[in-house]
Amino acid sequence: MNTPDRHRVFAGVVALALLTVPGKTQERSLYLDVAQPVEARVQDLLSRMTLDEKIALVHGDSKFTTPAIPRLGIPLRWMSDGPHGVREDVNANNWFPAGRTDDFATCLPVGIALAATWNPEAAQDYGDVIGEEALNRGKNIMLGPGVNLMRTPLNGRNAEYLGEDPWLASRMAVSYIRAVQSHSVASCVKHFAANNQETRRNSINVEMDERTLREIYLPVFKAAVQEAGAWAVMGAYNKFRGEFCCENEYLLNRVLKQEWGFSGLVMSDWGGTHDTREAALNGLDLEMGTNRPYNKFYLADAFRDGLQKGEFPMAALDDKVRRNLRVMFATRVFDGRPEGSINTKAHQAAARRVAEEAMVLLKNDGPTLPLDPAQLNSIAVIGDNATRPQAYGGDSARIKAFYEVSPLDGILRRVGASVNVTFSEGYAKDGDAGARAARAVQAARAADVAIVIAGLTRQRPFDCEGVDRKDLRLPYGQDDLIRQVVQANPRTIVVLVSGGPVEMDSWLAQVPAVVEAWYSGMEGGNALARILFGDVSPSGKLPCTFPKRLEDTPAFAGGARAYPGENGTEHYDEGLLVGYRWYDTKNIEPLFPFGYGLSYTAFQYSDLKVIAGADPQAAVATVEFKLTNTGAREGGEIAQVYVHQGKPGLSRPNKELKGFCKVFLKPGEQQTISIPLPRSAFAYYDPAKGGWLAEQDDFQILVGASSRDIRLQGVFRLQQTTLEK
Ligand code: BGC
Repeated sequence: MNTPDRHRVFAGVVALALLTVPGKTQERSLYLDVAQPVEARVQDLLSRMTLDEKIALVHGDSKFTTPAIPRLGIPLRWMSDGPHGVREDVNANNWFPAGRTDDFATCLPVGIALAATWNPEAAQDYGDVIGEEALNRGKNIMLGPGVNLMRTPLNGRNAEYLGEDPWLASRMAVSYIRAVQSHSVASCVKHFAANNQETRRNSINVEMDERTLREIYLPVFKAAVQEAGAWAVMGAYNKFRGEFCCENEYLLNRVLKQEWGFSGLVMSDWGGTHDTREAALNGLDLEMGTNRPYNKFYLADAFRDGLQKGEFPMAALDDKVRRNLRVMFATRVFDGRPEGSINTKAHQAAARRVAEEAMVLLKNDGPTLPLDPAQLNSIAVIGDNATRPQAYGGDSARIKAFYEVSPLDGILRRVGASVNVTFSEGYAKDGDAGARAARAVQAARAADVAIVIAGLTRQRPFDCEGVDRKDLRLPYGQDDLIRQVVQANPRTIVVLVSGGPVEMDSWLAQVPAVVEAWYSGMEGGNALARILFGDVSPSGKLPCTFPKRLEDTPAFAGGARAYPGENGTEHYDEGLLVGYRWYDTKNIEPLFPFGYGLSYTAFQYSDLKVIAGADPQAAVATVEFKLTNTGAREGGEIAQVYVHQGKPGLSRPNKELKGFCKVFLKPGEQQTISIPLPRSAFAYYDPAKGGWLAEQDDFQILVGASSRDIRLQGVFRLQQTTLEK
């Protein structure tokens, strides 16, 4: 039965429940009454459930479902990956595709590309697409966004995540989650917590100090739960301080549930549960993906036996079931869900918009870009990534895209028949690299301009789940190829398709223009063509530092103990100094800094005012300045506000991002930008005091076009020291 059909059947089952709940014949059960408060509905339904029914709701009965309980009108519950769209269906009991013909979906750009837009409105569009399509495909809980921070550029899943900065990632995640959930689809934020590498991900134990945990690795989850109201959280595979994250008393019970007041459900990552007692007592509410028969899941028969023997309190089970039921009510499974929509023009337009806003212009000498097709007779497009589909990659994040416009397709469509476009692979995984490169060089020499579409892929061992990259180099002789191409034709543009930084030292000086395009989803080729040919100015900025070399990166400095770990444990010795916090504080020159990205136009920053806020509860300071488009084209700028504390009680990173704003301006247009800074923007976590300390002190307010291009500076004096728990 396909998913929408299943839905219709279960709507019928709900109707049945109206009539057949024992003792309540012909009477409407309270839990089915939409007018009742959710907690009352939850309690009512819980009180009607048998032990076996409750147990059935806390573990999976297929790869992505929990069972229906027709007696009570509880429908089959579907979860689905993932962060960039609704994944194809797999078989109930294995990972092979179900082979359906109705599970093609919109493929959005990957998470790091979304973060590169620096635009919460783009994240809202993105979440809307996922919510609508999930409804249409009958999915209740979408497994995303992935919000683990980029600790090392080698992490195989960096492409899925939102970059290296907690504030930027929080803003994007909050917008994304709110949008998904506005469609009565739950967003499951993942992977909680400290899941920052794929190497030995199922067993590695992470050790870090409390301040680093609170300031770097938890804020996005906290914002997802408290600001966006995420209904579900997925535990991580790894251990944290010796205990698996899916059964981690400190992370799940203490921090997430007690401190943050999370009332939704915690599910395991697939196969992330290891022990009945720990799963029962340490905060896990739904076990998924364990590699054994469903009744042998840790929260199945063994849990029921333990409850019956009194080893675990019934209250522990009831709490889990309540959390599961809350999410069911939130996703309106008893009330009739909207139908949603899929593969619409509007969804494709959203995919293109995000892709366009995400691309980052890294270099543009000359300027080389944009290209004017009217002035060109020929273009040599070079590189395997010009035609390689990327949507169906990355493992659990893959999407069976409705279609995928490759970079070559996009260029061909854009320039039409008047320009002679040639394509040569240039490099490949196997085969005769020399002959391929020679053909590409010849094509480049013969053309007016060469566009090399280089980079990585969404297959192992690159930007893919389950494995980390070994280094930051481009594979398959691409560095050599680029050097040869630019020698043959100095008008060469390199477009990088990747989920994070790559080293460029051997060719960057010779190549006049470089674009980071990421994995840009089904509309990526169209978006790229619009950027290359100037229909739109690039407006993305880097959500992560691009280092010159692997040796410069924070996790590398600590040796194997820091990454990928020794004797089963890794120590986050770099502490708070992740991403630009590291490069700034240690005075290491990056290749391209965090927050960096060029445009086809120019922006001027002026007239900074730092205004003390009237309402200390809201903003203690408001940063106000003017932004003017002084160039000749319309364009978008991302203005960033960093804070530097003068004399902190505990040492702090050199600067920390605390606000940003993306603005689109026409040539000559000016806008006054106003960015509020709440008290929390000045605070750091003091582990001894167990809370967030904002100290009476002078703070430098740095307004910049990137983390290393500060255009305006002011000072703000915080008048009062406060501690918030
Ligand atoms: C991944 C999750 C994913 C799950 C279900 C796991 O391997 O870590 O992110 O949601 O599989 O496919």
